[in-house]
Amino acid sequence: KLVAVLISGSGTNLEALIRSSVGPSSSAYIALVISNKDGVEGLKKAQDAKIPTMVIDHKQFRSREEFDDAIDKALCKNHIEFVCLAGFMRILSGKFVNKWQGKILNVHPSLLPSFKGANAHKEALAAGVRVTGCTVHFVAEEVDAGAIICQEAVPVEFGDTVETLSERVKKAEHRIFPRALQLVTSGEVSLQEDGRACWNVKK
Ligand code: GRF
Repeated sequence: KLVAVLISGSGTNLEALIRSSVGPSSSAYIALVISNKDGVEGLKKAQDAKIPTMVIDHKQFRSREEFDDAIDKALCKNHIEFVCLAGFMRILSGKFVNKWQGKILNVHPSLLPSFKGANAHKEALAAGVRVTGCTVHFVAEEVDAGAIICQEAVPVEFGDTVETLSERVKKAEHRIFPRALQLVTSGEVSLQEDGRACWNVKK
């Protein structure tokens, strides 16, 4: 299945997705990387892996819908079937999300539904939890709220900062994002009409 990865930054999750999808047993093939920011490290990682890249700068568009339409066009033109949001820091409009329902995955650095939003690690540290983690979920219109596909718990150590914690959580992200992508592109997990994830057990 042809997959596009949307990024805004360092692209370490992108790197993990690329690495996990090169083998012959992979049901995902990363065919396109789109960044809303030029010059980011993730674009270099894609180019090193010989994956076509595009920069679609949100600042060039008058509205979120127009930006999303440009992304949608690029995905359709390249026959993309699944989309991974890997550190993509833009919120997608309802129209886009509904069109791609069941086909877009996002990684979030907490055990959802705890600590939604852009400051998950800061909030986890402030709450004093001893365990946090990461989640890969289907994207729904409500931010960080779609059906959960994979999660991994990660301990919070005494003296952790946002940096040390995010580094530890990212290692777990790099394990579960490739796993979730394989589950979805192979058809083992799909999104049901009622918005819940369905595990299609192999006979
Ligand atoms: C990850 O921690 C992800 O959970 C969050 O943004 C970060 C992206 O990191 N949404 P990278 O660009 O994959 O290195």
